[in-house]
Amino acid sequence: MTTLQQLLGIELPVIQAPMAGVQDSALAIAVCNAGALGSLPCAMLGPDAMRNELTAIRAQTTKPFNVNFFCHTPPQPDAAREAGWRAALAGYYAEFGIEPPPLTGGAARLPFDAKTADVLSEFKPPVVSFHFGLPSAELLARVRSWGAKVLASATTVEEALWLERRGVDAVIAQGLEAGGHRGIFLGEDLSTQVGTFALLPLVAAAVEVPVIAAGGIADAAGVAAAMQLGAAGVQVGTAYLLCPEATTSPVHRAALASEASRVTALTNVFTGRPARSIVNRMVREQGPISAAAPRFPMAVAALAPLRAKGESQGSGDFSPLWAGQNTSGCREVPAAVITRELAGAIANSR
Ligand SMILES: Cc1cc2nc3c(=O)[nH]c(=O)nc-3n(C[C@H](O)[C@H](O)[C@H](O)COP(=O)(O)O)c2cc1C
Repeated sequence: MTTLQQLLGIELPVIQAPMAGVQDSALAIAVCNAGALGSLPCAMLGPDAMRNELTAIRAQTTKPFNVNFFCHTPPQPDAAREAGWRAALAGYYAEFGIEPPPLTGGAARLPFDAKTADVLSEFKPPVVSFHFGLPSAELLARVRSWGAKVLASATTVEEALWLERRGVDAVIAQGLEAGGHRGIFLGEDLSTQVGTFALLPLVAAAVEVPVIAAGGIADAAGVAAAMQLGAAGVQVGTAYLLCPEATTSPVHRAALASEASRVTALTNVFTGRPARSIVNRMVREQGPISAAAPRFPMAVAALAPLRAKGESQGSGDFSPLWAGQNTSGCREVPAAVITRELAGAIANSR
């Protein structure tokens, strides 16, 4: 067994990436029961929804699982920027006959805080992972108080060392290929972001803790290659997006299954923070990086009615179509099948 399997109490060195907005407990449970680490993303869940999902996990698996949170600092309200963003989108509101939404739209993604820690302490999840850095030392101590192992994403060697100094049990090295939000948190310069097979050996050489490779890994050969380059395990997101247990929307599923999925970009137009999405009309016309987009997560609200309208007409033109660069692993098969296949090379070599 590798140190990661011992550390997390799992059979296979595979973590199903937490993916806010496209999954709930069902995907996590299926992966846990297949012997890997299933993850519940909580960035978009309020306390009641989180309680329901955690109750479902506890009821349907006895295996270890991961609960994931964002750690961003919510921005100060910026009315001028919000107005500028609505002005940039004005043509679309007119095209669809939609009233621009009010400037008071609440944050759709909340950072880990004391209230969340209260809910979590009722369930004492064995693994907790963070994106965009870590919560305060006090909150981290609360998570550790019930013995949870702590994982966090790093997109540079500097971030990996920062996380290690703060006591994480393993670092997730997130390469540039990865779908969804970049975990970058020690700066905003996207030229610091490198591919998985460049980042992984550098991070593995720099830190003592186990390193989990994320980004562009979609099959057993990719897993074996990551292990060869120093990974103790992998975190895979995109390959699970078409699984029946995922809640991926119909327009998102259609885009993933089409040739459009070959072209992805890092874009801030959906949330205000760089994230990898399939290129659609919104990315093409307003991005991929827009100076007008409000800071994370405030860009979401202005787009919400356009997204809803588009999706009601079967169009993903205004929807975040999160996907990594490597969509070759996306198949409409149960998550247990994807999990076992990812781990195949490892299992066979034992
Ligand atoms: C649809 C989607 C949503 C994601 N949401 C989250 C999230 O909520 N929290 C998180 O830590 N990472 C999130 N990620 C990033 C993953 O943790 C991981 O870095 C990435 O999926 C790995 O690359 P791959 O998609 O090429 O497998 C998301 C990725 C995708 C594809």
